Amino acid sequence: MLIAQISDTHIPIEGRKTYNIAPMAENLARCIEHINNSNPQPDIVLLTGDITNKGLIEEFEHSALLLSQLKMPFYVIPGNHDNREGVWNTFKGTACPVTNNDFIHYVIEDYALRLIALDSTIPHSSNGEICELRANWLDQRLAENNEKPTLIFMHHPPVKCGVIETDIDCFVGEERLGDVIEKYPNIEAIICGHIHTPIHTRWRGTIVSTAPSMGMRLLLDLNLECDKFILEDPTYQLHYWTEDHNLITHTISVGETVSSYLFERYIPREIL
Ligand SMILES: [Fe+2]
Ligand SMILES: [Fe+2]
Repeated sequence: MLIAQISDTHIPIEGRKTYNIAPMAENLARCIEHINNSNPQPDIVLLTGDITNKGLIEEFEHSALLLSQLKMPFYVIPGNHDNREGVWNTFKGTACPVTNNDFIHYVIEDYALRLIALDSTIPHSSNGEICELRANWLDQRLAENNEKPTLIFMHHPPVKCGVIETDIDCFVGEERLGDVIEKYPNIEAIICGHIHTPIHTRWRGTIVSTAPSMGMRLLLDLNLECDKFILEDPTYQLHYWTEDHNLITHTISVGETVSSYLFERYIPREIL
């Protein structure tokens, strides 16, 4: 099974650039074309939040228009730049299978990996949270099937990653979430977005990873002083669930360069 994870697309109103500099709509269109033309094609695409830049209706409509070009099913969750109403009004149905917009969390049962979407947003805040209601919901869903390999996707990583967005901003309920996660060894990974740079780390018996953004990469500063982004090619992650039951994550950059070169196989010389 192949899962393409795209994140932090920050789509602006049609005809504009994000923060007047980042061509995020163009980047997403390039990325979608790349995903559609890849061989093998991903089975599904997960968009882990910050779909829009300001949560405007026009931005959601623009995002939906771009995402409609995907040739495979896709699923969305909100990030702190979105709002639940906008996500639900735009994507309810196949891309966001929830019956109301209290929380945008749901389970996808149709694949070799069981997929659980978790809503980590707090209205009008950039911080993340898993409250008691959401932790209980997750615990119940995980208890329904504690053997099938499971992947959780959410916007905010629940660990401090050495960046302002996790170390100075906060995640409310980290312990609460960790206590649930630790009960279920069948959780292969928790894949997130939010910090616009790829990381992976061991956490409470599983792996937490983040995907890069669609072209607005965090300028890393472990001193937590600078909060800037740099422009890069749209980048996404391809999670490959192998026949050996390993979840292998490849980071794919959708560059302009198409030249490729053969590796030369190394043949040891006989020592005379
Ligand atoms: Fe973001
Ligand atoms: Fe975010």
